[in-house]
Amino acid sequence: MLVVEDSPLYSPEFFADDDPWAYLADLRAHHPVSVHRRDDGYQFYALTRYADIYAAYVDHKRLSSSYGTMVDGSYLPQKDSASGRMLIVTDQPAHTAIRKPIKTSGFSREMLARVGRTVRRNIHDALGKLSVGDRLDFSTVVAPELPKGVLEVLFGIGPGDAHRLLEATRTMIGYRDEVYAGTSPLDALVDAQLEVLEFIDDLIGHRLGSGRTDDMIGFLAQCVADGTMPRDVAVLNGLNVAVGGNETTPHTASLTVHTIDGERDQWRRVADGDVGCDVATQEFLRWTSTNSYVQRLAVEDFPVGEHVIPAGSFVTLWNMSANRDPDVFERPDEFLIDRSDNKQLAFGAGVHRCVGAPAATLEIQTFLEELAAWDKAFAVLAPPRRLRSNFMLGLTELQVEVVDAKEFGT
Ligand code: HEM
Repeated sequence: MLVVEDSPLYSPEFFADDDPWAYLADLRAHHPVSVHRRDDGYQFYALTRYADIYAAYVDHKRLSSSYGTMVDGSYLPQKDSASGRMLIVTDQPAHTAIRKPIKTSGFSREMLARVGRTVRRNIHDALGKLSVGDRLDFSTVVAPELPKGVLEVLFGIGPGDAHRLLEATRTMIGYRDEVYAGTSPLDALVDAQLEVLEFIDDLIGHRLGSGRTDDMIGFLAQCVADGTMPRDVAVLNGLNVAVGGNETTPHTASLTVHTIDGERDQWRRVADGDVGCDVATQEFLRWTSTNSYVQRLAVEDFPVGEHVIPAGSFVTLWNMSANRDPDVFERPDEFLIDRSDNKQLAFGAGVHRCVGAPAATLEIQTFLEELAAWDKAFAVLAPPRRLRSNFMLGLTELQVEVVDAKEFGT
């Protein structure tokens, strides 16, 4: 089995400045299971084929989420500090007990309808403020409008608080990038985490007082009040939803705008109504693969093809590689806006499959619908700045100019 010393898969710079897609394609073709070491002794196995990754996602018995799903989130033999209390780092059966109230209160049909309306209003207003000739950084001016609407509805907060929460969660995930964290990344991470926890704890405190239960935070506060959920569990899962929601879709939206600029003929088919925004959304999710990988710990020996990953090993599941696997996708390295039967794995699979996937899909689809209906378009002015992270694929700067849609080719 291939063993890579000092592997680039750990390096945020490699993901920002190099070509991780090509590196992973090579692994997928020649070394679908490989070991990646770092000079401090940390190592993980990397799975790069769709079928292996899917099998790993649904093997909840042999692969545990409790030791952290992000490299550097925690270390053996210590479990992640939120383990057993926060969805993403909790195994069965405790996981189901937490996920059910989150899913029914945050992502019901009714909540999604409210989210859809709020996100549409926010995007519509943001686009409506722009005139032909305006120059802006799309990633900071428009992209945050997507998760802001979700926060407003699920957390029952105004745009100002939603903005504050967005900034803090952004630092939590992007703490290895100086754009978010300055020169003391670990201090910035801890400060941001505390700020989000305090903010959500305050919200729950207020709801305990007011008794308002018509959103996710209100419902969680009610669970705290009736003793079915400890307060720290409610707060930690509020944080999980806030981070999961904030640090993904803005990056997907920025990468989407960048892709549209390079694929104007394909975008015209959406703007003309020949390709549905629902179909296009799936291809943007596959193409952007915002959450590049997740990590598990093998608690029993885990067989993959002819190999056996020994118990006690970390295993990483590379979503971005699965989404370009030629065994599953025809012409995988081409962006095809009308790709049908799109089995993209951007949200993972199994019991941990992104609980926010319906909201995320709605956000991106609504964004595409608003863009398609707009009489203007975003023309990219300069190569974007990619986020320095091996975990989240995104842009921290995307300079664009607002142009007339006809001039753009639509
Ligand atoms: C394009 C956008 C998004 C992508 C690519 C994405 C990706 C993922 C992936 C791959 C997982 C599985 C993690 C694992 O198996 O360890 C996950 C879980 C999760 N996501 Fe998302 N996500 C997105 C948007 C959202 C949104 C909008 C929310 C909330 C509003 C959200 C909240 C969560 C939560 C709470 C979990 C943990 C679920 C569990 O462990 O049961 N995500 N996400």
